[in-house]
Amino acid sequence: MDHWFRTVLLLGAFLFPALVQSSVRHYKFSVVSKNTTKLCATKPLLTVNGQFPGPTLYAREDDTVIIRVTNKVAHNVTIHWHGVRQFRTNWADGPAYITQCPIQPGQNYIYNFTLTGQRGTLLWHAHISWLRASIHGATVILPKRGIPYPFPTPDKEKIIVLGEWWKEDVEAVVNQATQTGLPPNVSDAHTINGHPGPVPGCSSQGGYTLHVESGKTYLLRIINAALNDELFFKIAGHNLTIVEVDASYTKPFQTDSIFISPGQTTNALLTANQGIGKYLITASPFMDAPIGLDNLTSYAALHYKGTPANPPTILTSVPPLNATPLTHAFIDSLRSLNSEQYPAKVPLSIDHSLFFSVAIGVNPCATCVTGIRLVAAVNNVSFVMPTIALLEAHYYNIPGVFTDDFPGNPPIAFNYTGNWTSSFQTMNGTRLYRLAYNSTVQIVLQGTAILAPENHPTHLHGFNFFVVGKGLGNFDPEKDPQKFNLVDPVERNTISVPTAGWTAIRFKADNPGVWFLHCHLEVHTTWGLKMAFLVDNGKGPNDFLPPPPNDLPKC
Ligand code: C2O
Repeated sequence: MDHWFRTVLLLGAFLFPALVQSSVRHYKFSVVSKNTTKLCATKPLLTVNGQFPGPTLYAREDDTVIIRVTNKVAHNVTIHWHGVRQFRTNWADGPAYITQCPIQPGQNYIYNFTLTGQRGTLLWHAHISWLRASIHGATVILPKRGIPYPFPTPDKEKIIVLGEWWKEDVEAVVNQATQTGLPPNVSDAHTINGHPGPVPGCSSQGGYTLHVESGKTYLLRIINAALNDELFFKIAGHNLTIVEVDASYTKPFQTDSIFISPGQTTNALLTANQGIGKYLITASPFMDAPIGLDNLTSYAALHYKGTPANPPTILTSVPPLNATPLTHAFIDSLRSLNSEQYPAKVPLSIDHSLFFSVAIGVNPCATCVTGIRLVAAVNNVSFVMPTIALLEAHYYNIPGVFTDDFPGNPPIAFNYTGNWTSSFQTMNGTRLYRLAYNSTVQIVLQGTAILAPENHPTHLHGFNFFVVGKGLGNFDPEKDPQKFNLVDPVERNTISVPTAGWTAIRFKADNPGVWFLHCHLEVHTTWGLKMAFLVDNGKGPNDFLPPPPNDLPKC
């Protein structure tokens, strides 16, 4: 090659790395059922490519990822790329009956999207019924080539996927609950990278081992892929430095335990700076509500190179099931990095100020064993799933599928976190809340004490939001906003609404289309704790919802 030409090319690559360095990455995901001994399962597990957890999706910021998903099982399937913003690629988001009809047995669908303005760890998972119990995996978005992390470069990176596992087929578990109207059975174990740790009646071969070398630093990419449990994660004798959550950098802070809700991801630096040996790793549930108790802890081991054979394990204490103060301390420590390179662009003026009460309730049910059915609702609306995708109904103007009158406030104001003896009946509806393109939105998510106060990790598709405030009791519209953090609030896609408390989030509706909001505890989603936003097209040449791809599955 001509010398000057090569110089120009190299100079170009140096000056405009993004132009020459983004690439297209192809993946093949086959949904197959697989027998696994790891879990003492009696039934084969639904997996991607026979792996549990599934394959990791690796890409760099600005890369395009193309995943061909083939459904080789008897269930309908979709895959959701949790936390990926999906600018103008709404049809690749994945929630069944929201942005697409399911991929039917024997069919396939190609998900095609570009990772814009995000770097860090996310997860992908099945987004239909409870199939994400075993169909899930990590998404790793590395910074653009040549761009360092805003923290000391780790020597190595490790992925840690926390999950939940049932001996029974999860679809049978949820079907039984739907028929009876009662809560579904809690899981039989929690898992760390697919290993359950000790389970009664299961002599599974050991757990997961995290191998480290003295003096080295590891970036742990921790994912909560559990269906229904918020978790604490701890490593005996070691502190962790949190540097990123939900693919957004944070101000670093040290902690000895991580609080992580289903759908959330946390990147933490671990330095192997203790004596050579073997240290216990624990993943244990957090539950400060009195229903459906589940106190199974899962164990793994941190193992230093050079540790003699059969060492005693150095133990740690597991946080109590109801360690509410620990969850608050952890959440309150999270702040956006808010550097020049990674600014926190918090909306300062608000076009839509919404107040969503999130609640569990009971409705009468003639066919249920106790004559009642557990339900859940946002502003008293239990969301009813449509039978075709909302995004198609919106794009093709199909009438009768949804209405755009989702209430911005509860039907009546009441003492949300007061003592509730009776309970509300909810209304059913497939109602969406309409937003103008680029409008700014604030949602105060208000937990209630109706029936049972519970923590709700709430997830919004298509956007990141800033968590500008939180508190216990009822939100005070006069006093509480004065305490909002509008400078460096944490930016994420899933936030827990504290038990009998509230959380306020803000985002800009810069992504036209239909976007799901729901509790990421699958049991609550099943009961109706979900709704969707409809963001209208804008006026600019790129501010519109593009047409669906040709292979979009049909219902
Ligand atoms: Cu991770 Cu709608 O979900």
